[in-house]
Amino acid sequence: MISHERIPNNVDLSSNKRLQRALEHWQPRYIEWWHDMGPQGFQHYHQVYLRTAVSVEPDGWCHYDYVRMPEYRWGIFLAPPVRDRKIGFGDFFGEPAWQEVPGEFRNPLKRLIVLQGDTEPASVEQQRQLGHSCPSLYDLRNLFQVNVEEGRHLWAMVYLLHTYFGRDGRDEAEEMLERSSGHDDKPRMLEAFNEPIDNWLDFFMFAMFTDRDGKSQLMSLAESALDPLSRTTRFMLTEEAHHLFVGETGVARILQRTAELMKSPGSGLSGDVRRLGGIDLPLIQRHLNFWFSASVDLHGSEISTNAATYFANGLKGRAREDTFEDHRALHQTYEVSALDDGEWVTRKVPMRNAMNEVLRDWYIGDCEAGITRWNKILERAGLSDRLYVPSRRFNRKIGIYAGLPFDPWGQLLRPEEFERRRHEWLPTDADKAFLKSLTVTPVYEAGQFANWIAPPQRGINRQPVDFEYVRRDE
Ligand SMILES: [Fe+2]
Ligand SMILES: [Fe+2]
Repeated sequence: MISHERIPNNVDLSSNKRLQRALEHWQPRYIEWWHDMGPQGFQHYHQVYLRTAVSVEPDGWCHYDYVRMPEYRWGIFLAPPVRDRKIGFGDFFGEPAWQEVPGEFRNPLKRLIVLQGDTEPASVEQQRQLGHSCPSLYDLRNLFQVNVEEGRHLWAMVYLLHTYFGRDGRDEAEEMLERSSGHDDKPRMLEAFNEPIDNWLDFFMFAMFTDRDGKSQLMSLAESALDPLSRTTRFMLTEEAHHLFVGETGVARILQRTAELMKSPGSGLSGDVRRLGGIDLPLIQRHLNFWFSASVDLHGSEISTNAATYFANGLKGRAREDTFEDHRALHQTYEVSALDDGEWVTRKVPMRNAMNEVLRDWYIGDCEAGITRWNKILERAGLSDRLYVPSRRFNRKIGIYAGLPFDPWGQLLRPEEFERRRHEWLPTDADKAFLKSLTVTPVYEAGQFANWIAPPQRGINRQPVDFEYVRRDE
């Protein structure tokens, strides 16, 4: 089904006049937000080769064409219903999934949806200046693709708020457009979404690690007893896969280029790469450490009564709940290593209270697989250098390791020792200045790439690499 309505959708919006009016009322506010806070400088005169979700059929859910970004058709799509879907975990395990929000879970469900929704426009805001320093038209198009789809994910959450949470939901939807990333008085709700992203290495690392946290969260919400939430998030995961691809292959192409430069005559040391206009491996590792630890934090505290309640009530499950044996998780425990007066102790936490940690395990495993793929590039280039996966204790701001001076291998240091070595492990001002100097001139010519990144292996939607992915109106 291809939708030609003002708000493309597969939720039969035209038969629900009240909802349709509410969303059509929100739409101009959204467009205004997009103009003010979306990608700067590419709104009026540029056409971008974008995919747009038009249905949920697996073989034809999107179409590709040139679009002026403010004219992108942000729609509302839910994955097809699963017949007789049952609740897959928690105290209501085996009961029919909910088609309406039960009164007693209204507030926590609203909270989960608002938290998810808030991250979507936040990332668009964080990345709004990046177009001016892009390494190629291919990358520029990928940035804008991620941005418009994060916009659609906001639409997805706003649809749920408007449909199932009445007046409160409409107020929350308004506030989504009032908070903004890094704002002094009304910042975005989660820390990692208030960090500016003003260079492309940060952008790729964000898409690799922070969008992957998005994937963890969406996978756990896809298990929810609230069926519309499950169906909405399942469809969002389809788009999210491309965001992770952009992050992973972006860094992979930088590594490819760095390896080439390291092997060029007169080079050999990682430090020499900068002189040749590339990005050295230690700097890449520091950015990896930063975004990995910030995204590990997004999974919340190791021991959490909120997580236990969400699980017990069927609101938020585990990623791939069907792969677990016991869906009630009432009698199991999970072991967490914690420091008690300077001594390591193992705490046995009731499984339900450790659900954040269970999700974090899934997340870290997924990151490790990606970093292993990155290291293959260095290996194939004949280099002995490798990237490492930092310890989950490193650089934490939330949970039992928060604020403690762990090194990236999980060893506790004296605070002065940590401070003395911080510049080895986390991005420095000099790193930021160097990245800025590298990307000062954007590359807007089709088929051309900045010196610090290799071209991709293939283009988007079977187009050639030198396709004009973004074109300026004459
Ligand atoms: Fe998203
Ligand atoms: Fe995303």
